[in-house]
Amino acid sequence: MCGIVGYIGNRKASELLLSGIKRLEYRGYDSIGMATIYDDRFFCKKGVGKVDEVNQNVKFTELPGTAGMVHCRWATHGGVTEANAHPHFDCKNNIAVVHNGIISNYLELKRNLQARGHIFRSETDTEVFAHLVEENYNGNLENAVMTALKSVKGTYAFLVASKNENKLVCARKESPVVLGIGENGTFVSSDISSFLEFTNRAIPLDDGEVCVVGNNSHKILDSKTGAEKLKNEMLIDWKPESIDKSGYDHFMLKEICEQPTTIRIAKGIHSEEVKRLARMIDDHDTVYLIATGSSMHAAMIAEYWFAEIAHKRVQAIDSSEFSQKGIINGSTLAIAITQSGETYDTLTAARFAKKNGARLASIVNVANSTATRESGITIMQGSGFESAVCSTKTFTSQLIIILRLAIEVAKLKGKDVSMLENEVEKLPSVVKEIIDNKEKIKKIAEENFSVKNYLYIGRGLNVVTALEGALKLKEISYLHAEGMSAGFLKHGTISLIDDNMYTVAFIPKDDRKVLSNIEEIKARGGKIIAIAAGGTTHVNTVIDVPAVDDLVSPIPFTVASQLIAYYVAKKLGNDIDRPRALAKSVTVE
Ligand code: G6P
Repeated sequence: MCGIVGYIGNRKASELLLSGIKRLEYRGYDSIGMATIYDDRFFCKKGVGKVDEVNQNVKFTELPGTAGMVHCRWATHGGVTEANAHPHFDCKNNIAVVHNGIISNYLELKRNLQARGHIFRSETDTEVFAHLVEENYNGNLENAVMTALKSVKGTYAFLVASKNENKLVCARKESPVVLGIGENGTFVSSDISSFLEFTNRAIPLDDGEVCVVGNNSHKILDSKTGAEKLKNEMLIDWKPESIDKSGYDHFMLKEICEQPTTIRIAKGIHSEEVKRLARMIDDHDTVYLIATGSSMHAAMIAEYWFAEIAHKRVQAIDSSEFSQKGIINGSTLAIAITQSGETYDTLTAARFAKKNGARLASIVNVANSTATRESGITIMQGSGFESAVCSTKTFTSQLIIILRLAIEVAKLKGKDVSMLENEVEKLPSVVKEIIDNKEKIKKIAEENFSVKNYLYIGRGLNVVTALEGALKLKEISYLHAEGMSAGFLKHGTISLIDDNMYTVAFIPKDDRKVLSNIEEIKARGGKIIAIAAGGTTHVNTVIDVPAVDDLVSPIPFTVASQLIAYYVAKKLGNDIDRPRALAKSVTVE
């Protein structure tokens, strides 16, 4: 994972780099390092910890110069130590490199480089690249980078500088890199959020491209031939304020509270694309939804919705397993569901599907991300920037878009879906009502989540609501939670019920079969916290949500369980927006 930012221009680089890397901390936050170039020398500071902690110790903005690079690390090769924090340098400190990705043949490269006398100072895969560039450097950095790339296998977004040249060179293969073209200089970054405050003009790089960035200039080259490529700028329409907390304690709470708006946006936009994709779904015998994390849960809910609403079978497959499970031919449609559009496993599955003859579509939040560029058709979620590692608003927007697709496919089959369309119309106000009652949910969360183990149970499509609710709690509270079908419980897991295992149960308005499972748990002395559409008298501890139709109940249920997870984690004093060991965009295998 990891995040990289580079800047070259006429402003103080360290200030812009520090502000940029704070925006990318969601990509990795176990160590931070920055290097700037000044007076034909590199100046570098590094440390283990989150940006603010490290900055307090080392004071990044003391670094002089108007060009430099910064990196936030999520360790893959080599422990979390200062020595392993990027940037990495060659033997003579002439070349600096930051990297997002994995060099899969680094051990072999390292052995060969060591045999040729290179001295290594870290255990990382990245450092080999600094030494490879060193070997090939002959006064022209881009040429050295392009030659060094020929030896490298794996995935990368590299950002490289030489102390002798006033330029940055970046290269991309399967890890995101985007240029930000500002009035006072140029940015290179893993994500537009790091420079959106300064410019909304961006150019995303594609695989196999190298970019040479100078003071207010950039040149994109084909990494194999060195031929120059012309690419158009795009204007980003996300507002800079979307990357601020706007008075909330955490991004997660801000993003939970944005859901009435983001749901309204998702239910209204891109009607023509939704209809077009619905026709494609209807036309294909085999439709796979490929995703991971919370997006996988959206895909799993889609299985129920397409079956129930449109009598159409679609199959959700965890993207990391897709090559083992997907049977692909010319009549296969694969739909990648990915907030970031950059998740390695989902992109790999999408490419595998395409290579084997499937058509590829995607549902994505981040504009111009890799998934959007590789898909035949993309529906943009329009949820705005999501900063907290935990997906909240982007998950419910994925659900709304999937629901609209299922409704459109049902219409193509001549079904009357007007009741369901009315229910969808009500969702922004339903969700607002839950958010307006968040103090009540806070109280229940603070008073009832006192043990270390939780079961989340539901039936039908709320089995998936249970999986997502449990995932949210685990991600940020570090409490153990397991989601499952209420019916499955009696086949083993119910034996765990005791004073140390509470159950969160989702009770929809009409199908109340879960009540019998609740009775089974109560009979064994288990504590239940119910999230009930229209309330219930069967359980003492209840979070009431509006009495929506069962088919749309995962949306209000999910918002309530997002708030539970948030308030439990807050009470525990956890770092909610940057939970340990996680990253928002997982760009490694
Ligand atoms: C990471 C994030 C999750 C997200 C998953 C898939 O694990 O922490 O919140 O659901 O990646 O991300 P994607 O961008 O593909 O939806």
